[in-house]
Amino acid sequence: VTEEPVKRGAVKSPKLRLWHYGLLAASLLALWGTGLAWVWLHYFGEIEGEFGPEPNPLNPFLLSLHGFFLLPALLAMGGLMAVHIGMGWRYRHKRNSGIAQTALYLTLILTGYGLYYAGDDLLRENLSLAHWTIGAAAPVIFIWHLIVRLNRP
Ligand code: HEM
Ligand code: HEM
Repeated sequence: VTEEPVKRGAVKSPKLRLWHYGLLAASLLALWGTGLAWVWLHYFGEIEGEFGPEPNPLNPFLLSLHGFFLLPALLAMGGLMAVHIGMGWRYRHKRNSGIAQTALYLTLILTGYGLYYAGDDLLRENLSLAHWTIGAAAPVIFIWHLIVRLNRP
């Protein structure tokens, strides 16, 4: 036990705990998988109903899974605000990809929120298209952020 007073926000490293990294990667992968599965069934998975083609009945289930995985994803992203982004900012080589990721997830959150409430059909269609095309690119940005060298010579 130390007598030193503990400073507020005394964590110094942007490195993530393994569980935090795992929670981020797993929940984002799950969002991506359920999102793209929805897109596939939406465009190519119509079933033959009594009165012609009908939307695939699996899609509402996929959306409920998507909504479930959103919860750990937001929790893990919220955790980044405490230390990761602030401490990571000093490492210039990670900055652009970090900003890109932050912007990407902000956009997904806003367009996703819009999807809950957009009544107008045309608006809903555009929000949906924006949401899933940006979502489809998320892993590319994630991997870009991972592989950029921390210290260039
Ligand atoms: C402006 C925003 C951000 C900055 C400046 C930033 C900076 C950094 C830095 C410096 C590292 C290297 C840490 C190390 O290994 O020593 C890193 C790694 C990492 N970042 Fe970010 N980051 C930002 C946003 C994000 C976001 C939004 C996510 C996820 C959605 C994220 C996920 C990760 C992951 C998974 C690693 C690798 C794990 C690790 O090295 O511990 N970062 N980031
Ligand atoms: C931070 C990440 C994400 C958040 C916060 C988020 C949020 C949401 C929300 C709130 C909805 C509306 C659900 C409903 O209407 O019941 C939704 C739908 C959807 N999301 Fe995401 N999502 C994220 C990532 C992704 C990713 C990575 C993809 C991959 C392509 C994706 C694809 C979709 C699709 C296809 C829909 C259905 C669109 C529609 O109903 O027209 N999402 N998302």
